[in-house]
Formats: sequence, C-alpha cells, structure tokens
Amino acid sequence: MKIGVPKETAEGERRVALVPDSVRSLAKREGVEIVVESGAGVASGHPDEQYIEAGATIGSRDDALTSDLLLAVAVPDSNLISSLRSGQVLISHLAYLTSAETNKALAEAGVTAFAMEAIPRTTRAQAMDALSSQATAAGYAATMIASRESGRFWGMLTTAAGTIRPAKVLVLGAGVAGLQAIATAKRLGAIVTGFDIRRAAWEQIASLGGRPLELDFIPDAEGEGGYARPLTEDENERVRQAIAENAARQDIIISTAAIPGRAAPTLITAEAVANMAPGSVIVDLAAETGGNCELTEAGTTIVSGGVKVVGPSNLPSDLPGHSSQLYAKNLENLLGLMITDDGALVLNFEDDIIDASCIAHEGEIRGERTAK
Ligand SMILES: NC(=O)c1ccc[n+]([C@@H]2O[C@H](COP(=O)([O-])OP(=O)(O)OC[C@H]3O[C@@H](n4cnc5c(N)ncnc54)[C@H](O)[C@@H]3O)[C@@H](O)[C@H]2O)c1
Repeated sequence: MKIGVPKETAEGERRVALVPDSVRSLAKREGVEIVVESGAGVASGHPDEQYIEAGATIGSRDDALTSDLLLAVAVPDSNLISSLRSGQVLISHLAYLTSAETNKALAEAGVTAFAMEAIPRTTRAQAMDALSSQATAAGYAATMIASRESGRFWGMLTTAAGTIRPAKVLVLGAGVAGLQAIATAKRLGAIVTGFDIRRAAWEQIASLGGRPLELDFIPDAEGEGGYARPLTEDENERVRQAIAENAARQDIIISTAAIPGRAAPTLITAEAVANMAPGSVIVDLAAETGGNCELTEAGTTIVSGGVKVVGPSNLPSDLPGHSSQLYAKNLENLLGLMITDDGALVLNFEDDIIDASCIAHEGEIRGERTAK
C-alpha cells in the first residue's frame, strides 16, 4: 500500500501531515510504502533528506496524489479533490460540519474520506484526537501572541528601578485551547482568571492555578458529548455584562469560546473593549468562526481606543514543527486501526472511531451530522 503526503497549499499553512519520526514508524510495517512530495516538510523544519533517511521516497505532487491513501492537514480545495480518483482514501481536516461542498465533492469523487475533526472525544480515541492536539498548539500560540503584543512583563518583577506588577489575564472558554492558554499565562507569571459556561471547567481552571470566574446565575451549560450548549439570548446578555465588568480590570483577554458547527458566541462587546485601559490586548482565537469579540476582524489586528484586538488565523501553523509532530502522531495512531500487519488497508466500520470519522464512502455521505 502506498501512502502519499502532498505539500500543503493553503495560504499560510506550514504544517505537514507526517513528520520523519512518524514515517520511520509507519515504514517499518511490511508492505507500506510512503511517498512525500518534495518540499512538503520544509516549512515545519523537515527537509527532504530527513524523510529519505526515515524510509520515505521523495516524489512529485502527482506521485503523492496518486497514492492509495493520502494524508493531509488543511481542508482540501476543489483542485485537490478533482485530482483524486474513486477508491482512494483521504485523511485530513475536512471542516465536515461547516463545509457541505467539500463533503459532497468527496462523495461524488468516490473518495473514502476521514475527517480528523470527527474523531470521537473518547478516552480510547484520545491519542488520535487532532482537535485536542491542534487546540493545545493554538492556546499556546495565542498566549505567545498576546505576550508579544502586550509589550510588557507578565510576571511580577522587583528591580532596583522599581517593581512591576504582574499582568492580569482573562481567558474566556476553558476547553483544550483555553486551558492551555491559562497554563501558559500562569507559567509566564500572570494573574489568570478563566471563564466557561460548563461548570466542570471551573475545577480545571483552578487546578492550573487560575481563578474561575463563577457566573453561577446561569445553569451549567454542559450539553451533548461534553460540549457547551448554546446559551439563550437572555443568558448571553447577562454573561456579556459580567464579562464587560471584569474586562475593565484585565490587561489581556484571550478568548477561545466555541460551539462545534456554529458561529462563535459574542462575549466581548464594543462597550467592553471601550472599558479596557489603552494598551490592553485581546487575542481572539475564535476569529475564524466569527470571533468572541464584536470588533474582531479575522486575519488582522485592529486598534480601538488604544486596545489591540488581534484576530489570528490558523494558530497551530504558528508552531509548525510541534503542531505537525502531534498531528502526525494522531494520524499514526488512527492508521494503527486501519493497516493490518501485512500492510493491507482494512476499514472496519464496526469500530466506533472508524465509523464516526469516515464522512464519505463509496459515493455516499456518511453520518447524520455530516448529512445535515
Ligand atoms: N478524550 C476526551 O475525553 C476529551 C478530549 C478533548 C476534549 N474533551 C472535552 O470536550 C469538550 C470540548 O472541548 P473543546 O476544547 O473542543 O471545546 P470547544 O473548542 O468546542 O470550545 C471551547 C470552550 O468554549 C466554551 N464555551 C462555549 N460557549 C461559551 C460561552 N458562551 N462562554 C464561555 N465559554 C463558552 C466551551 O464550554 C469549551 O470549553 C470539553 O468538555 C473537553 O473537556 C474530551
């Protein structure tokens, strides 16, 4: 079986689906051949020679794209999909809950497609959970951006020239990315407050040394599968008011609140931004899905009343080496469920991970949520 790793072509995408270490371990399997498009790993710090040394062949784009099984990072564009043939298998991010066109095109092309975002959030699937591995990178990268943009020390400093007070940081949304942002801001020495509408997250915020902002006037909003349920308009309004009050006391806000398959909830109003001191910074990790801040513009930074509102896109790509390393490990673990000892690809749809993550097979779109 031939596994192909094409070079990512999406603008700003620096990750690669397989790093040389993962190639080394996959290539050990009998009957498995890996072809990497020349230059695919360069932006993440892996030149072609490292792949050759790990046991892969370096080839053209066509060589990679005609493989039996394709591994990619970014949601494929129509060019890539049109170059696929029926019966090929593609494993990638597919934005399957929001990109109906991609689902349809993959099914029509007869491709068997696995969406890394559809890996179940279960204990057994943890090692394959790309949403978590990439959110970890995003939370860390967002904190690094906030630190740089704030132009200040984050920890308390006592010097001969005076004392610097620690930065005050508020993290909105304490899922995987938010918890990583809290942990990273704490390591930098900031005083950190965390907020989530799921009560279970409050304990997790505290366990990282953050102070949970306990808005207990709204009931626990934990919904299906451990995700948050959307708040009612009235609940949202009360949350926004409480956050506006708290925001005025913060130097930095990192916002990560999300609900799968929906636009990001608005948590920081223009008024809340106006209440913040000039020089404060908001990094809105939800920028690509509409933003948690009313003023966010995806892919750019705006300044309002001296407050910087940063709307980064594709944060995991800011740490291409480590994001690729974790993503490649997720893929390697998923492939462990699909590749037999003699190198054959066998898809067992009785396996809940294979079943949930396969969104197109034999010309059909699979799964209720994908079809919707
Ligand atoms: N293997 C596992 O068991 C596993 C792995 C990863 C995550 N999880 C769980 O999955 C869930 C989702 O994690 P995620 O990081 O993918 O979340 P996510 O990216 O979907 O959302 C980020 C956070 O935003 C919060 N949020 C949504 N609306 C909000 C609002 N209006 N105000 C404030 N916060 C809001 C959510 O509760 C979530 O914590 C969590 O319960 C997490 O613990 C489980």
